[in-house]
Amino acid sequence: MRQNACISGSCISISLLVTPFASHFIDYFAIHKGKTHIAKRICRFLSFFHDIPSQIFNAGDYRRQLFGATMPASFYDPTNEEGSTSRIKACNAALDDLIAYMKQEGVRVAAFDATNGTRERREYLMQSLKSSGIGAKIIFLESLCDNEQLLEENIRRVKLNTPDYRDLEPEAAVADFKRRRDHYMSVYETLEENEGPHIKIINSKRFIVNNIRGYLPLKVVHFIMNLHTQTRTFYLTRHGQSEYNLLGKIGGDSGLTPAGKEYARRLADFAKDHIGVRKVVDPNTGEESEVQQPCRLWTSTLRRTKETTQFIDHSKFKYKWDNGDTGEWVQFRPMARRNLDELYAGVCDGMTYKDIEQVYPEEFNRRQEDKLTYRYPRGESYMDVTLRLEPLAQEMERTREPVLIVGHQGILRILYAYFMGLDRKEAPYVSIPLNNVIELTPHAYGCHEKRYCLMRREEMLNDGQDEPVTSMPTKKISAAEQNVVYHPQDPVMNAPSC
Ligand code: F6P
Repeated sequence: MRQNACISGSCISISLLVTPFASHFIDYFAIHKGKTHIAKRICRFLSFFHDIPSQIFNAGDYRRQLFGATMPASFYDPTNEEGSTSRIKACNAALDDLIAYMKQEGVRVAAFDATNGTRERREYLMQSLKSSGIGAKIIFLESLCDNEQLLEENIRRVKLNTPDYRDLEPEAAVADFKRRRDHYMSVYETLEENEGPHIKIINSKRFIVNNIRGYLPLKVVHFIMNLHTQTRTFYLTRHGQSEYNLLGKIGGDSGLTPAGKEYARRLADFAKDHIGVRKVVDPNTGEESEVQQPCRLWTSTLRRTKETTQFIDHSKFKYKWDNGDTGEWVQFRPMARRNLDELYAGVCDGMTYKDIEQVYPEEFNRRQEDKLTYRYPRGESYMDVTLRLEPLAQEMERTREPVLIVGHQGILRILYAYFMGLDRKEAPYVSIPLNNVIELTPHAYGCHEKRYCLMRREEMLNDGQDEPVTSMPTKKISAAEQNVVYHPQDPVMNAPSC
């Protein structure tokens, strides 16, 4: 590893994670690319699946707020006293807010996302955090990269879209960012073994885990080791209309109606023509063509999801992955997963909502009052389902190929809410209609969504989907999310950073 290449393309950040039972926990990030993305994924995962309040403190945001977004590269020159003082000021402002946040009651996690490339700076941070009395465990996370091509792509596709470079010509912006990077590199010191608990990620391939203990810290280590920041897409769909859907009954294990089968046929075409191919541009001629790409297929263990995939083609082809592995790939090889089975309604399984209201009026009302935590007698709640989906969400973070998930309404609501950044409480009300495919592309700011309606409601008989509680609380999309410049081939999907 060439040290001068370690930091090229990006900078360094810290994140900090805390739990209340004195096993407080701080992360330090020194990440060549995708650091904000990684920090966001960790915080999202912990807050959604583990109900741990988690927040990111990005020193770049403070710097932009205090001194403006368009500072020249010379601002980052370590010999520029004024620039250094300003940057330290921004970093300390973020740190102060982080400490105030951590001092609040209860389990909480914070990610400190800032440039901290020198040992001196890291020692200062450790000291400040320790003397603040937050009693946190501290873990540094450093990510190194010497792949010049990735770093160059990172600059062009990510950095140039940050507020720092929005008003500059691309070539001028690239040159400026490279100068900024050189300034970081001139003082950069990699983490040493005696700097305390840390994890190093080298070229997104090698990991060094040093002296990390504790349930939550190791959970995060596991999460990080499974995570990647390359662009990938998930496709969520419910099974085609089932016999029970038609009758308005919940649960069960019925097969598909003729309309359900028709949806299965259309889904197979969609999988082949839309999910299974990728556009490539010939660098010499500029001509665009389509190539087959490897895809995964997950269903529940229930009949209606498996039947919905019955027409999907499973051709085999040779494939070479970006880590050099080659092998034969079975396209959309079906994988039935028990944790994708629908929320189990216990004694109400197989009943209509009307039946439930009549036979178990108290249960019916309790569910209306708190759909998230309500557990059907001898059945499950949305909270139970969330817990069993945690390992699946981790696996989704790990996969690099597009994944088509043919599931159920309750299950897909949770997965959708996780990736779309919704609060757990909103999840049970998300609209996941039959006959639609929801395309989700996670990125550093959140997640892009596109819906494809493969079959209109009028094309079916009564769809039996007049559930009593289906309205969805509307989510406000932030201005940053609306304005994000998204490049579908972007391998990094980074966020603005220091
Ligand atoms: O109605 C179809 C269905 O998948 C049922 O099997 C399941 O109980 C229900 O949706 C979940 O939706 P809700 O939580 O709104 O009742």
